[in-house]
Amino acid sequence: MDSEKNYCLITGASNGIGKALAEECTNRKLNLFLVALPESGLEELSKHLAKINGNDIQCLSIDLTEMDAPKKVYNYAKTNNLIIDKIINNAGVGGFGEMADQKESEVDTMIMLNIRATTLLTYYFLNDLKKLPHAYILNISSFGAFVPIPKKSLYAATKSYILFFSRALNTELKGTNITVSSVHPSGVATNPRLKKSMQKASMVAKITTLDSSEVAKIAIDGMIKNKKLIVPGIATQFFYIVGLMLPHGIVLRIIRKVFSKNS
Ligand SMILES: NC(=O)c1ccc[n+]([C@@H]2O[C@H](COP(=O)([O-])OP(=O)(O)OC[C@H]3O[C@@H](n4cnc5c(N)ncnc54)[C@H](OP(=O)(O)O)[C@@H]3O)[C@@H](O)[C@H]2O)c1
Repeated sequence: MDSEKNYCLITGASNGIGKALAEECTNRKLNLFLVALPESGLEELSKHLAKINGNDIQCLSIDLTEMDAPKKVYNYAKTNNLIIDKIINNAGVGGFGEMADQKESEVDTMIMLNIRATTLLTYYFLNDLKKLPHAYILNISSFGAFVPIPKKSLYAATKSYILFFSRALNTELKGTNITVSSVHPSGVATNPRLKKSMQKASMVAKITTLDSSEVAKIAIDGMIKNKKLIVPGIATQFFYIVGLMLPHGIVLRIIRKVFSKNS
């Protein structure tokens, strides 16, 4: 199989970590199939990236929370003969606040995007991936996947879903040509405004926050090395290991304290 004809699918590629992943893949001369919301500047970004290394960049503007959107993404790849050998499920939304105060539409969007779109895209492409010499699935989760987080209860739960789905699928596919990785960043300064505000945040937030370009590089390196769990940054890795060693009840108490301050 000619790897030059293969494509890396990235969802939520117009901004933040997804855009940084698209840039990182462009630097590595990968052909890309980028997906993001309509009017997100995706076409301009695709044209810009295509000029850098001459790799082919295809894009599709679509709202992934629509019922038939994951199937449309798959159909676009098939119709245009794009051989997808890497799937990066990055598109996701967050939120902060008590569960009872969330709007129904926000709750629905988070489940449809963070869970449903990721699951169905993986599902639709899986049998095609099995036919390739090697294929990768990279799911962008969060540090929030490791602990239940009050006032981010749904978000953290969707990211735990991504963690467990990825780990189980990776085990299910052991010995095949497909590896599944999940990425668990803590804070990511996706734009200069966030970067500035994170500098004013707590010491823990300051030392664990990375730029989106750093996260993208670590994520792609980890995926290529078939790492199943990718925790970007030494400080975040430190807190991950501490979290594993402490009794669960103590971790929950610390998390409750940290997040009650952010109200
Ligand atoms: N930033 C962090 O601190 C952080 C930390 C841990 C994990 N993460 C995870 O990393 C991923 C990316 O986060 P981010 O901070 O980079 O987010 P972001 O800056 O808000 O970018 C999200 C991307 O997804 C697209 N998108 C949003 N809703 C969509 C929909 N319904 N259909 C299709 N595309 C949609 C956005 O398009 P538009 O440009 O049109 O909005 C954008 O390209 C998420 O899964 C997030 O949970 C982020």
